[in-house]
Amino acid sequence: MQTWLRRKDIDRVTVHEEGRRLVPTLSWPHLVALGIGAIVGTGIYTLIGVGANLAGPAVLLSFLVAGVVCACAALAYAEMATLMPAAGSAYTYSYTVLGETIAWVVGWSLILEYTLVVSTVAVGWSGYAVGFLKGLGVDLPEALTVGPHAGGLINLPAIFITWVVAGALIAGTRESATINAFLVVAKLLALGVFVAIALPAFDASNLHPFMPHGFAESIGEDGRKYGVMAAAAIIFFAFYGFDAISTAAEETKNPARDLSIGIVGSMVGCTLIYMLVALAAVGALSFSVFGQSPEPLALIMRELGHGAAAKIVAAAAVVALPTVLLAFFYGQSRIFFVMSRDGLLPRNLSKVGRRGTPVAITVFTAVITSALAGIARLDEIAALANAGTLIAFVAVAACMLVLRKRDPQRPRVFRAPLAWLVGPVAILGCAYLFMSLPTRTQLWCLAWNAFGLVVYLLYARRNSLLAQGRNA
Ligand code: ALA
Repeated sequence: MQTWLRRKDIDRVTVHEEGRRLVPTLSWPHLVALGIGAIVGTGIYTLIGVGANLAGPAVLLSFLVAGVVCACAALAYAEMATLMPAAGSAYTYSYTVLGETIAWVVGWSLILEYTLVVSTVAVGWSGYAVGFLKGLGVDLPEALTVGPHAGGLINLPAIFITWVVAGALIAGTRESATINAFLVVAKLLALGVFVAIALPAFDASNLHPFMPHGFAESIGEDGRKYGVMAAAAIIFFAFYGFDAISTAAEETKNPARDLSIGIVGSMVGCTLIYMLVALAAVGALSFSVFGQSPEPLALIMRELGHGAAAKIVAAAAVVALPTVLLAFFYGQSRIFFVMSRDGLLPRNLSKVGRRGTPVAITVFTAVITSALAGIARLDEIAALANAGTLIAFVAVAACMLVLRKRDPQRPRVFRAPLAWLVGPVAILGCAYLFMSLPTRTQLWCLAWNAFGLVVYLLYARRNSLLAQGRNA
C-alpha cells in the first residue's frame, strides 16, 4: 500500500503494549461533567461579545448556525468514538479510516486546536479575574494584565491559571475529573442567575437593527470580516469540547454507553443553555455596549444595576473556567501521547508517570500555552483554534461516511441518525465556517499544516510504527 494511505488495523486500535496503556477510571457522569466542563467556557462567557460586535443582535443566528454544524459533527463523533474507543479521537479515527497522512494532518491540527483553546480560555479567564478583583478593590497594574496588542506588557493572570491547571492534571486524572464536576455546577448556576436577571429586562428595541452587517461576509472599514457567518466562525468556539470527551475513550470503563451519553448529552444541553443566554444578553443591553468588554456577562449585570449578580457571574467564571482548561489540557497531552505511541512523534513522550499521567507532555504543553496566553489577542487565537477544530470535524464526518460504505456490517453501538444528511451537513458546514474565518487565520492554519507536513516527511513517515511493520 502507498505510504500515505497506510492505515492502522481497526480491530487492534485498543490493544497496546504494557506501560503505554492509560488506566480506565472514568464513567459517564464523569464524561458528561467533562463534556459540559469543556464546552461551557470563554465562548459563552466572553466571545459572545466579540460575536455580537461582528453580527449585531443577529449573533443569535450565529449561535444557531454553529450549533447545528456542531450537533451534526457531534453525532459523527459519537458513532466513531463508540466504534473505536481508543485515545486520540479524530486522529485515531482518521488513521484507521483515511490513512496515515490525513491522520497526521488531523493530529497536527488537533495540537493547534488544543494549544490555542488553552491559551484562549486562559486569556478569557484573566478578563473576568481582573474585573472580579477590581470589584473587591484590588487593582492589578494594567501592564501586567493584558498583552502588548492592548498596550500592556504581559498577561500574568493568564499565565498563572495555565500552570495551576497543569499542576492539577499532573496530580492525577480521576481527582481532577471529580473536582471538575463541582465546578461545572457552579458555572451553570451562574449562567442561570444571568438568564434569570437579564431575560425579564428584555427590550425588543435592543434587537434593532437586527442584522447590521448582513448574513454572509462583508468587509468592515477596519478590513475585518463582519456579518452573521463571520460571527458564527468565532462563536463556533463556544460549542466544541465534546470532542475532548472522545479523547478520554481509552480511560472509560464502559465506552459504548458512556461515550454516547457523554458526547450527545453534553452537546444538546449546552446548545439549549446558549440560546437562552444569548437571547437574554442581546435583549437586555445594546450589543454595542457589551461587544467590546473583556467580561460581557458581568458588564450586562452591572449595567442592569445588579452589582451582586455581576460578582456572582465573575466569581463563577473565575472558579469554573479552569474546567475548560482542564479538559483541553487533558486532550492535548493525550494527542501527543497517542501520536508518540504510534511513532509519529518521539517515542519517549508516551511514557506515563507513576500516577498514570503523561508528565513530560503536560509540562511541555504548559510552557507553550502559557507563553501564548501571556501575549496573544483573544479573538485571534480563538479563530485559529477554530480553524484546527474545523479540520478535525471534517475528518471525523468523512470517516463516518467512508466507513459506512467500506464496512457497513461492522456492529455500531451508536449509529448517527440520517448519516447521509448529517455527515455532509457537518462537512459542508465546517467548510463554510472555515471560509468565514479571518483571512489571516486561514493563512496561519495553512502555514501550520505546511510546517507539519515537512515534519511528517522528514521524521514521522519513517519512524511510524506502521512503517516498521508493527501495528501501533
Ligand atoms: N467551548 C469552549 C469554550 O467556550 C472551548 O471555552
